[in-house]
Amino acid sequence: MITINENFLNLQDSYLFQTIAKKVAEFQTNNPDKRIIKLGIGDVTRPIVPAVVDAMYKAIDEMGNQETFRGYGPEQGYSFLREKIVENDYLKRGVEISPDEIFISDGAKCDCGNIGDILGLNNRVAITDPVYPVYLDTNIMAGRGSSFDEKTGKFENIIYIPATAENNFIPEFPSEVPDMIYLCFPNNPTGTTLSKEELKKWVDYAKENKSLILFDSAYESFIQDENIPHSIYEVEGAKEVAIEFRSFSKTAGFTGIRCAYAVVPKELKGYTKKGEDVDLNKLWNRRQGTKFNGVSYPVQRAAEAIYTKEGQKQIKENIAYYMENAKIIKDGLKEAGFIVYGGENAPYIWLKVPDGLSSWEFFDKLLNEANVVGTPGVGFGPSGEGYFRLTAFGTKENTIEAIARIKKM
Ligand code: MLT
Repeated sequence: MITINENFLNLQDSYLFQTIAKKVAEFQTNNPDKRIIKLGIGDVTRPIVPAVVDAMYKAIDEMGNQETFRGYGPEQGYSFLREKIVENDYLKRGVEISPDEIFISDGAKCDCGNIGDILGLNNRVAITDPVYPVYLDTNIMAGRGSSFDEKTGKFENIIYIPATAENNFIPEFPSEVPDMIYLCFPNNPTGTTLSKEELKKWVDYAKENKSLILFDSAYESFIQDENIPHSIYEVEGAKEVAIEFRSFSKTAGFTGIRCAYAVVPKELKGYTKKGEDVDLNKLWNRRQGTKFNGVSYPVQRAAEAIYTKEGQKQIKENIAYYMENAKIIKDGLKEAGFIVYGGENAPYIWLKVPDGLSSWEFFDKLLNEANVVGTPGVGFGPSGEGYFRLTAFGTKENTIEAIARIKKM
């Protein structure tokens, strides 16, 4: 008899964005004449920039030529891309990372989930609340958390660290010390950031407790304020305690192309039950070598082109476009009397729903009355109840129209 991984039975029925897609599809079927504006899932709308498209065409041509054809690439990624990442994303910010600490992948979502393969199942996991649901769900699948408590909206054995308006979105150390700590800044969903000083407190805390920080900086390219760190490694000592996840999805519109990377520094150690230290870089390399055959050559060439002069100019124009949308949303909602957060160094706007409504009730109201889709805050954790997320990744026209409709509600 084939048995299953029963941890999956602890999960809620479907992944947050699948639930939303289903509700929206139902509404559209029942209201075929309504034009729905989707500001729910953070999916980009600007096309891939010309520098990237050109590089991809060129790479595809190479693949069709006997002299330049390539088969399997290195599982960790081609050195041409790993070197560009080191030079542009780290050295330019004064951070020394070596190419063999960079692992190219097909998405930060996969990396955030897969990293659990090399970590013990008895580790205590902490997530900030609210947060991107992948950190939680993947740990429930692995068995690091157990049953869901309907009353509290929390899973047993998971440490929730509130980062809410009440504490200015600055997570405080929990009463119980976690082994794995997920931090995401700029934050998804609140769009808020953490200063270097605040981040340093977490690095020091992780060092003191031999914990591991899993730092998701998928939204770093949206940071406008020069004082906000783009990488956790800008904090001294972070290479000893943190893995960083980055993605080209939002930075360069790669949600459909798929390319990202994880940084696993060589200084970083994990421990056996007996307390012996082990290099996490070696373990991740071993895991990737076995379970992954790398990202396709044309996609890695496309990612490389982001770092050219034209590529940088073009992707920055798109980022500015989205940040203008963020301003339109934030200013418009404020004018409509909403309390709003984020949207200044991130493409997400976090708003307080009108009194008396739950996040999901507001979702329904917005869909029914304004035909606008957003994401209910509670979908990101219990502390998100009473809040709602809108994304700046729509087109400018739709963003303006959505805000006009919301103002009329
Ligand atoms: C989001 O809307 O939170 C993101 O688009 C999801 C993701 O990046 O996987």
